[in-house]
Amino acid sequence: MTQTILVVFGTRPEAIKMFPVVHALASDPRFRVVTCVSAQHRGMLDQVLAIAGIVPDHDLDLMKPDQTLDGLTAALLTGLGGVMDAQKPDWVVVQGDTATAMAGALAAYYRKIPVAHVEAGLRSHNIYHPWPEEVNRKIIGTIAALHFAPTETSAAALRAENVAADAIHVTGNTVIDALQWVSAKIEAEPALANGLADLEARFAGKRIIGVTSHRRENFGGGLEAIAEAIRQIAARPDVALIFPVHPNPNVRKVVEGALGDLPNVALIEPLDYPHFARLLGLAEIMLTDSGGVQEEAPALGKPVLVMRETTERPEGVEAGTAKLVGTETTRIVSEIFTLLDDKAAYSAMARAHNPFGDGHAARRIVELLGNVR
Ligand code: UD1
Ligand code: UDP
Repeated sequence: MTQTILVVFGTRPEAIKMFPVVHALASDPRFRVVTCVSAQHRGMLDQVLAIAGIVPDHDLDLMKPDQTLDGLTAALLTGLGGVMDAQKPDWVVVQGDTATAMAGALAAYYRKIPVAHVEAGLRSHNIYHPWPEEVNRKIIGTIAALHFAPTETSAAALRAENVAADAIHVTGNTVIDALQWVSAKIEAEPALANGLADLEARFAGKRIIGVTSHRRENFGGGLEAIAEAIRQIAARPDVALIFPVHPNPNVRKVVEGALGDLPNVALIEPLDYPHFARLLGLAEIMLTDSGGVQEEAPALGKPVLVMRETTERPEGVEAGTAKLVGTETTRIVSEIFTLLDDKAAYSAMARAHNPFGDGHAARRIVELLGNVR
């Protein structure tokens, strides 16, 4: 009998990590896949839908400028619940730890529909870092019937919370599937990622540092200190920083105000996924507070400095290819300078490895969904 699987997502990183699952479900006759996007993000979500070739069956179009967590969550619950009532799925699949994922799991629970959680078991053990994601994923972990943990570390975190061992499956992180898919696509069609040519020419001969920053817990002082660090790094004539700026107004006003006038800092619009993959290729170092970038950079052998106090992704740090540098200006600047000036320190971090997955996570997830009754 065909199972109806409702796949729910709403932000850029969920779309990137969920499109391999949607592709795999859609090509398997055992399933009827229904996609519902909350559109908690709009432009950044649409960029991923376009490259992945996904036209959602339901689009709740919920994004509002500078949305609050409670307003967003309320709208998500009622909107996603309505889609579940209409579709009556056998399973609801959510990814990660966003408001959309948490509300999707909760709305499914209110209807007693089983939930499968992709990227389960990430824990920082600090409910305010990252905020509100740590609690979002714990809520989902309480509800889910199937937990697709990317690594053994995340599976162990779930077992420590008394999740039944037979409900936990180590699948790898679908972000590696996504990165491999987009890399192959660019190789077949290089024009998909040639939009950085002007910047590449402008910064020819300079050492490129790729930057992203959007964490809510860094709003205010943290983000200002990060911007000041970038200013100080940009004082070096041998570097150029390429910074696709998250459209959240709380990010934009700080970053544009502090860095808008520097010749070797390019503040640009969010890149679509092929172009971001290109930036990962160009960069000598990635400086980020993103979750997904922490997983992608090691896969490409790029040292990643993580501007957070804690990480729920210890695998890169343990392997020595990622480093937590916090959000203080002097620490960020000195860690970047060390990587730029100390060849041994750089080579120790610049090793391609894949602690987060092997590119076959989506296939495993679909097999597991097919095997449950
Ligand atoms: C959200 C997630 C976070 C995830 C991040 C990835 C929650 C609570 N937060 O944070 O877990 O790491 O996405 O980027 O679920 N905006 C646009 N266009 C867009 C997207 C956002 O203009 O395409 C602006 C809007 O003003 C919006 C604001 O950004 O209100 C914030 O978006 P929101 O999804 O609430 O939070 P993020 O900080 O993006
Ligand atoms: N990304 C992108 N374009 C950009 C910046 C990031 O496609 O301009 C991708 C990146 O490759 C990664 C994901 O977006 O897969 C990370 O999203 P984000 O940092 O917004 O969220 P997080 O991973 O922290 O939840």
